[in-house]
Order: sequence, then C-alpha cells, then structure tokens
Amino acid sequence: MEKNIIEDALSYVKELFEKEYSGHDYFHTLRVYKMATRLATSEGADIELVQLAALLHDVDDRKLSPETYENQDKARGFLAKHSFDQEKIEFICDIIRQVAFMANDSVVPSTIEGMCVQDADRLDAIGAIGVSRAFAYGGGHNRYMHNPDIKPNLNMTKDEYIKSNSTTVNHFYEKLFKLKGMMNTKTVIEIARMREDYMRDFLDEFMAEWEGER
Ligand code: ADP
Ligand code: NI
Repeated sequence: MEKNIIEDALSYVKELFEKEYSGHDYFHTLRVYKMATRLATSEGADIELVQLAALLHDVDDRKLSPETYENQDKARGFLAKHSFDQEKIEFICDIIRQVAFMANDSVVPSTIEGMCVQDADRLDAIGAIGVSRAFAYGGGHNRYMHNPDIKPNLNMTKDEYIKSNSTTVNHFYEKLFKLKGMMNTKTVIEIARMREDYMRDFLDEFMAEWEGER
C-alpha cells in the first residue's frame, strides 16, 4: 500500500470538486474527513479506512455524478489505481453506499468505520455550519428564509421531501433537529448536543428579531 494515498485522495477530491459550490463541495469533504478522523481515533476504528471513506464519500454522489453513482466507479478507480486490496475496496464502497442513503431511508452502517463517516457527514448539517449550509441551500433553491404561513411537515415521505418547497426555517424541524437522534457513535452525541443547542439559540434569536422583540 502506498504511503501517500491519503494525500493523493485529498488532491483528488480538491480537483474533482473544484467547480462545485453546493453543500457537497471540497470543504464539506474536508470537514467530514477531519471530524471522521476525530471520531475514529476516539472510537478505536481503523483510521486509514475511515479517512479514505470520508474523502471519497461524495465523489460518486447521485446528484453530482449520476452516471457513476450505482457502481461507485470513481471511488473504485481511485483505490484500484493505488493498488488497494480488493477486500478493502469493497469495505470502503460499502461505507460510501451506507452513507449515501437519504434521510428517511437511512441505514445503520454495518461497521464502526461506517458509523464514524456517517456521523461526521450528519454533523456537518447541524451547528453553525449546518445553519450556513441550510440558508445557502435555501437561497440557491429560491426558498423563503421563513414564512409563518408555511408550516413544517414532520412526516414527509421521501417523495414529498424531494418535491417540497418548504422554507429554510422549516428545514430545521423537518430534518436538522432529527439528526442527533440518528447518530451512531458515543463520541458524537456530546458534539451533536452542543450543535443542536446552538441551532435552537439561533432560531430563538431569529424569531425574536423577526417579531421586533430584540
Ligand atoms: P445530504 O442528504 O447528504 O445531507 P443534501 O443535499 O440533502 O445532502 O443537503 C446538503 C445540505 O443542504 C445540508 O446541509 C442540508 O441541511 C441542506 N439542505 C438540504 N435540503 C434543504 C432544504 N430543503 N432547505 C434548507 N437546506 C437544505
Ligand atoms: Ni456528505
């Protein structure tokens, strides 16, 4: 196995996501990589497998790369080029597949390594980063920040969720506040709790300012 595979993976995703400014850009991958490494260290998971799965988790994303999504061609291609073990390639591709499942269809990863990557990916949707990503997404999709006439729908089917034209404030209730309860590792719970408290404080302040109270 090559020594520099992690560095190569970092360069690979940097180049691949160069023109990508959505929530799934290079810096999202970098944050997931850093947090997954922290979780893996604390959970005693295999660091290298976690780091590679984190770095490659979005390269075959359904939205960004629909033609390679099914077989994870980019992730496989990268690992094969580095003469990575076939068995380890399958291990990493299993993680990527498990992380890719969308909110309501989500699966519990079969390995502690997968749990670290999935938790790190979910953490990136909450806290200050999560707030920023949500409003950036809302702006990009022509959604209201907030509209008191549009109520949150907490029990949307996957289809309704995809078609929904809800507000960004509603997204907090429809998805972001559900994420803490879906986390896997012990290490992540405390971090998720702090981030969720931050989001609740943010919404309190937002509503008070909305009403001209603060
Ligand atoms: P994932 O399912 O991998 O988290 P998404 O593409 O659904 O990826 O989301 C990427 C980012 O955009 C996340 O931070 C998410 O919270 C945000 N986002 C997704 N849907 C909405 C929405 N309807 N309103 C506001 N933010 C959203
Ligand atoms: Ni991701």
